[in-house]
Amino acid sequence: MPIEPIPHAQVPVLSARRVVKRFGDNTVLRGLDLDIAAHEVVVLLGASGSGKSTLLRCVNLLERVDDGQILLSGEDITDPAAHADAIRARIGVVFQHYNLFPHMSVLDNVTLAARIVHRWEPERAQARGMELLGRIGLDAKAHEYPDRLSGGQQQRVAIVRALATNPELLLLDEITSALDPVLVGEVLDLVREIKDQGSTILMATHEIGFARNAADRVVFLEHGRIVEQGPPGQVIDAPVEASTREFLSRILH
Ligand SMILES: Nc1ncnc2c1ncn2[C@@H]1O[C@H](COP(=O)(O)OP(=O)(O)OP(=O)(O)O)[C@@H](O)[C@H]1O
Ligand SMILES: [Mg+2]
Repeated sequence: MPIEPIPHAQVPVLSARRVVKRFGDNTVLRGLDLDIAAHEVVVLLGASGSGKSTLLRCVNLLERVDDGQILLSGEDITDPAAHADAIRARIGVVFQHYNLFPHMSVLDNVTLAARIVHRWEPERAQARGMELLGRIGLDAKAHEYPDRLSGGQQQRVAIVRALATNPELLLLDEITSALDPVLVGEVLDLVREIKDQGSTILMATHEIGFARNAADRVVFLEHGRIVEQGPPGQVIDAPVEASTREFLSRILH
């Protein structure tokens, strides 16, 4: 019988295979397997030090894995011959803070990768930047420096900047944990909007409420291993593993 070719849509956007990461004798990721399908939103939960940021940093090639592989749309990005800058250009990243360059206008921040990495014509980058700033209601701030914006506005700019060149995958690491509670909502609303537009997202957050109603899947990490994963209604509301239950009761109460 002929073997049917796998349609492209079925290739996971991200595929971590038995990923091991050590810092000296501290093994932080212990043979981690994780596939993320196109348009899927996966939230990483786990105690401090469980390896969430390390996983995100390995995916973005800020750290090199010690063993295993990471595939981006089927391409092995952990192959030593892979071109790190070209791969990073396909991934959007937002961290907890220090996302925007303080000496550049908001618009220049948003268009930076488009202009420098993707070499778009200035007019095209400018138009895309203004479109994105308009979408988050900040087009009037395009020519201000970032320090004239609130923390929540800065994070929303960082998010649209990460989206400017339509990355295959968006990595978000605790993007609301440095914000005042009132600003958290506006940033999470934007993430939800982006999800609805079809982005593929891997994010670490402690916002359980957000994970419950926006994640397609919740992945619970402990000591660099996935101990439990599934739809949020299952993992958050009816966790099976003792360590998941303990973690959730600690952050929910
Ligand atoms: N550059 C580094 N050098 C040495 N050890 C590191 C480095 N980065 C992370 N680690 C260690 O790796 C482990 C996992 O850290 P990581 O930042 O991935 O945890 P996390 O799950 O993101 O925690 P948090 O919820 O606090 O953000 C910790 O023990 C940490 O000390
Ligand atoms: Mg972290």
